[in-house]
Amino acid sequence: LTTAFTKSLALQHPIALAPMGGCAGGALAAAVSNGGGLGLVGGGRGDREWLERELALVTKQIVRPWGVGFLTWAVDTDIVFWALEHEPAALMLSFGDPSPFAERVRNAGVKLIVQVTTLDEAKRALESGADVIVAQGSEAGGHGGRRATLPFVPAVVDLVSPTPVLAAGGIADGRGVAAALVLGAAGALVGTRFQTSHEALVPPHVVKALLDGRGADTERSRVLDIARGVPWPEQYTARVLRNPFLESWRGREDELSHDTAVQQTYREAAARHDLDVISVWAGEALDLITEAAPAADTVAELVAGAERALASVGNS
Ligand SMILES: Cc1cc2nc3c(=O)[nH]c(=O)nc-3n(C[C@H](O)[C@H](O)[C@H](O)COP(=O)(O)O)c2cc1C
Repeated sequence: LTTAFTKSLALQHPIALAPMGGCAGGALAAAVSNGGGLGLVGGGRGDREWLERELALVTKQIVRPWGVGFLTWAVDTDIVFWALEHEPAALMLSFGDPSPFAERVRNAGVKLIVQVTTLDEAKRALESGADVIVAQGSEAGGHGGRRATLPFVPAVVDLVSPTPVLAAGGIADGRGVAAALVLGAAGALVGTRFQTSHEALVPPHVVKALLDGRGADTERSRVLDIARGVPWPEQYTARVLRNPFLESWRGREDELSHDTAVQQTYREAAARHDLDVISVWAGEALDLITEAAPAADTVAELVAGAERALASVGNS
């Protein structure tokens, strides 16, 4: 499955690991890249100590192109510029204005990938010189916007052509990858499915919750971000596994934002990893995720499944 994305980054397969903050560490990124996809370390808001450890791991284990991603609205320019010194092949920026970083990334000879949730963001990404644009639908696990993957991806493809687009949100098997390619995308960016990979920095009881969970058990919410005290811009809600804490605060977000006692309770529950309270980010594709596996096996399965799906179209 050769595409403009695989050609531009010299990859074997049109599959990218979503740079999931904290859980896509160096081992997971290396496993996806060594499996022929693009592994992206989840740099999140830019915790330098975490990044030092995980980037050292990825550069030690990797034999193929890899990258690192950050939350645009939250990361300092210094951390992004420091990450460039580790010579990633790609740097991904999501959720916010990429322009303060773009020139420096390009001048370092690093491909700039920008994840977008609206057509206006896609236009801005294009203007800032993105090499690859990720069109993310609201089925996605974790933070994002309101558009659905199926109509949003081709609209972005039409807007930014010939810049390659990756589809994200709700893709967890080969049929989803095939669908992305048919929509005109040059590949798929996959998050939730890789959260259950053996190499992911995800505790076993969270992996079990993901494997047991269903798409219908997820919803988009701001409740858990408010409780965590993380000031996400309001337009980006997070898709999470519903839990009793979320249920009890849904619709009372303003009240929660002023309730420091409950925020303290949340922090204590987080320290105990109490799943009745803390957020487990997960997408609608959970129905399709039934087994934990090594990430390279998942890359191979996604590609083989996509090839099968594409070959069988119209033959059933
Ligand atoms: C646990 C988790 C953490 C995430 N963290 C980030 C992040 O730090 N930065 C980012 O750009 N996207 C993040 N995302 C969103 C992904 O980039 C991607 O859009 C999404 O996972 C794709 O949808 P899927 O989960 O259905 O595969 C996260 C997603 C999940 C599931």
